[in-house]
Amino acid sequence: MGRLWILKWVLLVGVLGCCIEGLGVNWGTMANHKLPPKTVVQMFKDNGIQKVKLFDADQSSMGALAGTGIEVMVAIPNDQLVAMGDYNRAKQWVQRNVSRYTFDGGVTIKYVAVGNEPFLSSYNGSFLNVTFPALQNIQNALNEAGYGDTIKATVPLNADVYNSPVNTPYPSAGRFRSDINGLMTQIVQFLSKNNAPFTVNIYPFLSLYGNDNFPFDYAFFDGASNPVVDMNTGIQYTNVFDANFDTLVSSLKAVGLGDMPILVGEVGWPTDGDKNANAGNAYRFYNGLLPRLAANKGTPLRPGFIEVYLFSFLDENGKSIAPGNFERHWGIFGYDGQPKFGMDLSGQGQNKLLVGAQDVQYLPQKWCMFNPNAKDLSKLADNIDYACTFSDCTSLGYGSSCNNLDANGNASYAFNMYFQVQNQDELACNFQGLATMTSQNLSQGTCKFIIQLASSSPSLDDSFVSLVSMALLFTAMWV
Ligand SMILES: *[C@@H]1O[C@H](CO)[C@@H](O)[C@H](O)[C@H]1NC(C)=O
Ligand SMILES: *[C@@H]1O[C@H](CO)[C@@H](O)[C@H](O)[C@H]1NC(C)=O
Ligand SMILES: *[C@@H]1O[C@H](CO)[C@@H](O)[C@H](O)[C@H]1NC(C)=O
Ligand SMILES: *[C@@H]1O[C@H](CO)[C@@H](O)[C@H](O)[C@H]1NC(C)=O
Ligand SMILES: *[C@@H]1O[C@H](CO)[C@@H](O)[C@H](O)[C@H]1NC(C)=O
Repeated sequence: MGRLWILKWVLLVGVLGCCIEGLGVNWGTMANHKLPPKTVVQMFKDNGIQKVKLFDADQSSMGALAGTGIEVMVAIPNDQLVAMGDYNRAKQWVQRNVSRYTFDGGVTIKYVAVGNEPFLSSYNGSFLNVTFPALQNIQNALNEAGYGDTIKATVPLNADVYNSPVNTPYPSAGRFRSDINGLMTQIVQFLSKNNAPFTVNIYPFLSLYGNDNFPFDYAFFDGASNPVVDMNTGIQYTNVFDANFDTLVSSLKAVGLGDMPILVGEVGWPTDGDKNANAGNAYRFYNGLLPRLAANKGTPLRPGFIEVYLFSFLDENGKSIAPGNFERHWGIFGYDGQPKFGMDLSGQGQNKLLVGAQDVQYLPQKWCMFNPNAKDLSKLADNIDYACTFSDCTSLGYGSSCNNLDANGNASYAFNMYFQVQNQDELACNFQGLATMTSQNLSQGTCKFIIQLASSSPSLDDSFVSLVSMALLFTAMWV
C-alpha cells in the first residue's frame, strides 16, 4: 500500500513536473505599462505558482485572484501605518480589504503584511513608532472578525534588523539590532502569541553589491572555496543565505523564541542595472536555491521546509532607483511577461523556460531614435536627461545591458524609452528636432530597444475621455 502510494506520487509529480511546495512569488505593480491582472494570474496558474505576495490590496489584482485558490498575502504600505494606529481604521481596512473577499469563490487570504521593511536604516526611524501599533490593531481586528485562526498579520522586515557583533561575526551570535532590540522583542512576542510567522527578506545580491571584497561564490549555492566557520558551533557555511537565515534563528533564540516559524518574504537576483546583475548570475542563483527548497534542505540551524516568496515575478519600471539601477530588473519575467532565463520551478534543476504571458498586446513596431541629420547638438544632453527622467534608462549604466552603445546609441535609447512610455505619441519623438521615428528594430547585441505594452482594456474613464476627444475631433472636422 505504502509503496503503491509512493509510486502514484512519483507518477503524479512526473506528469505535472511541478512544483515546489509552498513556493510563492512577489507581484509588484510599480510600472507605467502593466500586463492585465488576468494575464498575470494565468501565468501563475501556467507555472504552478500557488502563493502570491502583494504590496497592497489593489482591487484589480484581488479581483483577478478571486476563485483561483491561490494563497495571497495582502499588504498595508508604509504610508498607511500611521492611520492603522487607530483601531477603527484598522477594522475598516480589514472589512474593506479582507472580509470583502472571503466569500465562497473569493480570495484565499493567508497573511496581511503590515508595512514593507519599515525599519530599514535608510528610513531614519520614520516608522519605528507606528509599526507595532498597526500590527497589533490589524491582528486584533482580524481576530475580532473571526479570522484569527486562518489569517495572520506579519511584518516583512529587511535582514538589517539583526546582525552579529563585529568581534564574533558568526550566525550563532546573531542578535536584533541594538537600537531596536526592545521593539523587536515586543513584536516577535506578539507574533508568537498569535501563531504568526516572522517574515524576512534576504538578499545575497545586495551583500555582493557595493562590496568588492565579498567572496563572489558565497552569494550562490554551489559551494564556496573558503567556507565561513562559525567558531561557536563549528558549522561551516558555504553560502550567505544560510548564514543570514541562521543569524535570524539565533536572534529569535536570544529572545526566547528559537522555534518561531520564519517565512522568507523576498529572495531573488536581478538581471540588469549592475555588473553582477545579469541573466547568467540569476540563473546560477535560482538553479542553486530551487533544488534546495524542493529537497526541504533548510539551513544548518533550521533543517526542513522553508516558505519562500521569490522576488520578483515581473520587472517594474516605476520603482525608485535610490537603492541602485538594478531595482527595476528583479523579475523572473520581463515587463511583458516573457521569461528571461532558464528556470525549473519543480526544483529538479533542468534548464527549461517558464511559461510566458499569452496574447500580449504590444504597441505598433515603431521606435524613436537620434536624428542623424540633426545640426544643433548643444541641447542633446538636456534632452537625454529629460527623456531619462520620465522613463527608464537604467540599462545604460556601467555593467548593464546597453552600456556598450556609442553616444548616438545612448541618445536613441533614451529617446525611445520616453517615446514608448508616452504610448508612441508622435510629439514624444521630437526632442527639439534631435529625434526621429523609425520602423527598424534598433536592438543590438544584449541591448534591447523595447516596444511597450498596449494599454489593457480601457477603464470606464478612459473610454469616456476618448469618446469626448472623438466628439471634439468630429466637431473640428466640420468647422
Ligand atoms: C484597502 O486597500 C487599498 C489598496 O491598498 C487602499 O487604497 C485602501 O485605503 C484600503 N481600504 C481601507 C478602508 O483602508
Ligand atoms: C535620512 O537621513 C539622511 C541623512 O540625514 C537623508 O539624506 C535622507 O533623505 C533621510 N531619509 C528619509 C527617508 O527621511
Ligand atoms: C518615537 O517615540 C519616541 C518616544 O516616545 C520619541 O522620542 C521619538 O521622537 C519618536 N520618533 C518618531 C520618528 O516619531
Ligand atoms: C552612454 O551613457 C552612459 C550612461 O549615461 C555613459 O556611461 C556612457 O559613457 C555613454 N556613452 C557614450 C559613448 O557617450
Ligand atoms: C528586436 O530585435 C531583438 C533582437 O535583436 C528581439 O529580441 C526583439 O524581439 C525585436 N523586437 C521586436 C519588437 O520585434
